[in-house]
Amino acid sequence: MANESNDVYKTRGQWAGHLGFILAATGSAIGLGNIWKFPYITGVYGGGAFVIVYLACVLLVGLPLMMAELMIGRRAQCNPVGAFQKLHRKGSLWQLTGWLGVVSGFLILSYYSVVAGWSMAYIFKALSGFSGSAEQIVGQFDILQNSAGTSFLWHSFFMLLCIGIVIGGIQKGIERWSRILMPSLFLILLALMFYGLFATDGGTAALSFLFKPDFSKLSAEGVLSALGHAFFTLSLGMGAMITYGSYMKKDRSILKDAITVSFLDTLIALMAGIAIFALVFQYGTEPNAGPGLIFATLPVLFAETGPWISVPFFILLSFAALTSGISLLEVVVSYFIDQRNWKRSTATLVLGGAIWFFGMLSAVAVWKVPVNILGENQGFFAFFDVLTTNYMLPLGGLLTCLFIAWRMKDKDRIGEFGSSGKLYSVLKFVLRFITPIALLMVLLHGLELLPFMDYGP
Ligand code: PFF
Repeated sequence: MANESNDVYKTRGQWAGHLGFILAATGSAIGLGNIWKFPYITGVYGGGAFVIVYLACVLLVGLPLMMAELMIGRRAQCNPVGAFQKLHRKGSLWQLTGWLGVVSGFLILSYYSVVAGWSMAYIFKALSGFSGSAEQIVGQFDILQNSAGTSFLWHSFFMLLCIGIVIGGIQKGIERWSRILMPSLFLILLALMFYGLFATDGGTAALSFLFKPDFSKLSAEGVLSALGHAFFTLSLGMGAMITYGSYMKKDRSILKDAITVSFLDTLIALMAGIAIFALVFQYGTEPNAGPGLIFATLPVLFAETGPWISVPFFILLSFAALTSGISLLEVVVSYFIDQRNWKRSTATLVLGGAIWFFGMLSAVAVWKVPVNILGENQGFFAFFDVLTTNYMLPLGGLLTCLFIAWRMKDKDRIGEFGSSGKLYSVLKFVLRFITPIALLMVLLHGLELLPFMDYGP
């Protein structure tokens, strides 16, 4: 296998440095999901108990699935569509899983970049300082969301950055920028966390909110959200890790690297939680503000702390979004490079451009989905978010898991895992039985079909 894969490596991009894969994959995993979504859903579902369930989900669902995707990618040396063809057979229906991933990447990036654009817009708002009454500051977010032109402009800028990085390729684009952005992100977050812990009066309250479990606050809905979030935050279910795994060197241990990436992703989410909730409790605000926690609630608090805290915060958010955005684009681009023999530059420009254009639907908040599929008068933004997070990703994850556990050859699996010992048997068991059941539950919950849940009339 070693010689065989070395031949493939000659023609295929590969992470260069020792840390190349780790930085790029944590870059993909750490994103708006960690800094925007994790704190707000933790707030909504009551804190500590939710965090414990979330950690269990990362361990039981996220980590095994991440290993599965990396094993598929590195074995096949291919984009998600090609990977399922290569490891099963050409024309195999399993390639639909790969297709689902490519389409999910396209759709997610089209709205992800709108939120990323808001993060960048807020760097400048923070620079000029948040001022006025709380209503006025909160109102700024409504204005931004509803001003189609500004949202679209920032979305365009973000897409331009993603295209500029991905066009540079694996080493000179994605890896090089991850090397700069990830350590910067970590240092900024570390500083903000220390500020929250030691320079505000909210540090202790934040720690006990996040780490003291009160199981009476935990609902079945909370458990399922923790499960769903565990694999969104690790960039699973849409082939991103298949793609990044395909550029991984043969001598890296998939077990160790997957543990490192999952650990760092969780660490960053918790650090962001501490930094944010310390501020929230310092000013006696409620932690359950929902999606507006970052763009509406925090700026009101930032008016007190000043730009020294708010500017780094939104830079952090933008960096996190950027390293995830490039991985979403890379999934789509790699399909056209591998399967259609396009040049990287052509694939990046055409597909990046198409996503940018399509993203207009999400950037223009007043445009609504013409049919009421997911409730009343849904905007495209919410529609694509729900469609991908609740349906497409869990389905992609479930199929990937079923494929590796029941269809992929033992020889291929062991070849990538590196041994056939006890740990391998545990992984195989979890991928065969535990992870698919958990993912099936997320999917059924998304479809409002779980018998023990109350979905209302
Ligand atoms: N993991 C990213 C986040 O937490 O924001 C989101 C994401 C990126 C999902 C890339 C899927 C993906 F392929």
